[in-house]
Amino acid sequence: MSELDHSLAAPLARGLYLEAAGSPLAVSPGPLPPASARGPLELELPGSARGSASGFDEDSAARAAQAAFAAWRAADPARSGLVPGCVVARDGQAAAAYWPGAEVGEARARAARADCAAFAPAPRPPAAAGSAEGREAVVRGRVALVTGGAQGFGEEIARGLAASGATVFVADLNAAGAEKLAAAINAESGRAAAFGLAVNVSDEASVRAMFDQAAAIAGGLDLVVSNAGVLKAGSVLEQDSASFRFVTEVNYHGFFLVAKYAGLLLRRQRRTAPRWATDIVQVNSKSGLEGSNRNGAYAGSKFGGIGLVQSFALELVEHGIKVNAICPGNFLDGPLWSDPDRGLFVQYLRSGKVPGAKTIAEVRSYYEAKVPMRRGCEGADVMRAIYYAVEQAYETGQALPVTGGQVMLA
Ligand SMILES: NC(=O)c1ccc[n+]([C@@H]2O[C@H](COP(=O)([O-])OP(=O)(O)OC[C@H]3O[C@@H](n4cnc5c(N)ncnc54)[C@H](O)[C@@H]3O)[C@@H](O)[C@H]2O)c1
Repeated sequence: MSELDHSLAAPLARGLYLEAAGSPLAVSPGPLPPASARGPLELELPGSARGSASGFDEDSAARAAQAAFAAWRAADPARSGLVPGCVVARDGQAAAAYWPGAEVGEARARAARADCAAFAPAPRPPAAAGSAEGREAVVRGRVALVTGGAQGFGEEIARGLAASGATVFVADLNAAGAEKLAAAINAESGRAAAFGLAVNVSDEASVRAMFDQAAAIAGGLDLVVSNAGVLKAGSVLEQDSASFRFVTEVNYHGFFLVAKYAGLLLRRQRRTAPRWATDIVQVNSKSGLEGSNRNGAYAGSKFGGIGLVQSFALELVEHGIKVNAICPGNFLDGPLWSDPDRGLFVQYLRSGKVPGAKTIAEVRSYYEAKVPMRRGCEGADVMRAIYYAVEQAYETGQALPVTGGQVMLA
């Protein structure tokens, strides 16, 4: 028997759990339970769910899944408030089993035990009326994906999310770097908190495969951080067209591709979880809010990103997907600036871009002095902005500066 396409069926299964539990969890594909097992939810999906090209009708499939779940509960009064220990989805010829857990490790353990017993999902503790949620509570148990996650801001974000109890896909062109960081996060946290994925955000097939892989590991996603970005500074009078295009491809077109395939996955999951809101957060830049001298390719791609954020937010609100940008100032401690061989500090020192500066410390002071708060942007600053975007249920399409006062919105 061939397998169902997990990217089609798993988000529908995860959505059923999200809707019933009201709190996030992972749903992992695993072996089918023995035929004698009692209690799995059996889903008969209409049409074929063996590849997107098969004309999978996710709307009908979602309605069938919701009806099957209601019937599963109604079949036994003892199931009130419980969820099934396993969902078996079939489309006539192919079948797949999906196993839930608070996180991927727990879901896989349930699959290994073939434990189909119904259970009560852990309730999400309600925040006191009028209070803000603690930082951890905002993303605990959520499943997130961070592009460009292997280093720099992406690494800070991946580590920050994992430390706050999320499951994180670290997706990067540098696949070895992504795997290495995921392994380090897992070793430090003692749980299957992170998974490395290879992706080139400017390649459509690669972006699509990345989201398919995420669905096949955790069932779906709650937060997509589109962080991968590149910078090639240059005068408008001198920059070659190839460099301009390269920056545009990654920063602008790449964000479109990430938002497109994130949106398709999150919409599918939402079909069985109509009350579950999800987030796309673009890591933009202060250069998306004001021009950047001799850096037009970058600033233009980032300004364009904000146009995309606003437009996608208007469209995707219908599917419960918020789309916001955060606009950090210079991450002076990050590799882009501080790399001893290729960082911007050494480059600017060598090129004499900062008048009179004779040392790296002087170049750094020059950039710190531009910031009212007198320091560069740090990972924790970016994390606070991301948590705000996720927690805030009543905002979308915004561009949030994180610049120490360097850029102030009108
Ligand atoms: N560093 C800063 O001062 C600063 C300031 C504001 C905004 N930003 C933005 O933050 C984001 C991250 O920047 P950073 O400074 O951490 O960069 P970085 O160069 O340190 O890291 C970028 C990561 O993205 C990956 N990447 C590059 N191209 C990719 C592609 N096509 N597909 C997938 N992954 C790719 C790289 O391998 C790398 O791991 C970017 O969007 C950048 O514009 C950075």
